[in-house]
Amino acid sequence: MALPESTNRVGQTADMAIDVAQVRADTPAADSLTFLDNAGSALSPAIVTSTVIDYLEREQRVGGYAAAEEEAERLAQVPASAGQLVGVEADQIALMPSATAAWLRAFASVPLESGDRILTTRAEYASNVLPMLQSARRVGATVEFIPDGPDGSVDPAALGEMLDARVKVVAITHAASQNGVTADATEIGRVLRAADSNAWYLLDACQSLGQMPVDLTEIGADFVSATGRKFLRGPRGTGFLAVSPRVLAEIEPVPIDMFGTTWDGNLDYTVGPTAARFQSMETSFAGVLGLGAAIDYALAAGIDAIRERLVMLSTHLREALAEIDGVRVHDRGAQQSAIVVFSCPGSDSWEKVRELRRNGVIVTAITEPTNPRDVATYNSVCVLRASPHYYNTESDLSALTTALSR
Ligand SMILES: Cc1ncc(COP(=O)(O)O)c(C=O)c1O
Repeated sequence: MALPESTNRVGQTADMAIDVAQVRADTPAADSLTFLDNAGSALSPAIVTSTVIDYLEREQRVGGYAAAEEEAERLAQVPASAGQLVGVEADQIALMPSATAAWLRAFASVPLESGDRILTTRAEYASNVLPMLQSARRVGATVEFIPDGPDGSVDPAALGEMLDARVKVVAITHAASQNGVTADATEIGRVLRAADSNAWYLLDACQSLGQMPVDLTEIGADFVSATGRKFLRGPRGTGFLAVSPRVLAEIEPVPIDMFGTTWDGNLDYTVGPTAARFQSMETSFAGVLGLGAAIDYALAAGIDAIRERLVMLSTHLREALAEIDGVRVHDRGAQQSAIVVFSCPGSDSWEKVRELRRNGVIVTAITEPTNPRDVATYNSVCVLRASPHYYNTESDLSALTTALSR
């Protein structure tokens, strides 16, 4: 599945803009739906779906183990593609069933003791905050929020002032789920290095990967967690964890299993040298190949070209929404993602989502469990999230704004 060097699957050279007609042709529902929920579960390119189906059919014909043997080479290529996407080697990638599984494996593996400090952001995803709170309660550590800067995104300088030897974890959500805000992940890495901090830097790239560049090495993160089904446009039930060389040198996963660790038959074991130590034995091989196809498709489209188109589409959408009577856009931050969160007239978010769906417009609702504090600040019972992708067009954005204006 190596990418051709000069031209790629979507028919462009690496520095060209997205060929919108081509990517729409590759996305069967693009013309029948106004699909604006790519931060939820995106429409996959046809190659992703056919890769999954073909592999499942092969499993049906020859059995799961034989199918895996036949496709060993293609399966082994998936961590290499994921590594290319996040700036690491294939042996720094562990395949995972979700971003939550990846993040939890990383966090659970960091040794914590009484008095340790865990620093995180106000925009964090609840499924990250909850294990931090639980772990802190269990061992007697503390969880502290890094203050936001004036633009509403986490302030790297404030982080710098909080750092000391007891800070063991710095957990940052790159692009929030409930707001367009993004964290300056690179500056946070720089602050950690400048302070000579020993903290483990966990970057949740669940919502950023596939819509903007995320390079673990450049950022200086120790762990990057990712999911397949959102802006990467992969199958559900897929994801991965990328780890730094420092993690491979110093961190033993919790828990371990026989996929990446060897039992000596008595009372000892040896942890393997690669990130596979974080992976579990069983996985959906069809899903893994589909994830690989999705990553290769994104690489072929070009992450910089994707980002450029998404900045354009999401800026236009925010401007158009702001002009509708009764609509308030809630996104903050100097750098924003393609996640556009707004409140609109209506008595219930999900009712509004269903109403729009009846008009062929797919968005989702933002509700408290994701991040109760952020959602409370919206002060509305009808909060929606629209998340365009590069296959969307201006007329998709108009379909949403027209439906909301009715
Ligand atoms: C910022 C963020 N982190 C993590 C997750 C969890 O991802 P997954 O559902 O793949 O576990 C989500 C899901 O919406 C998210 O938005």
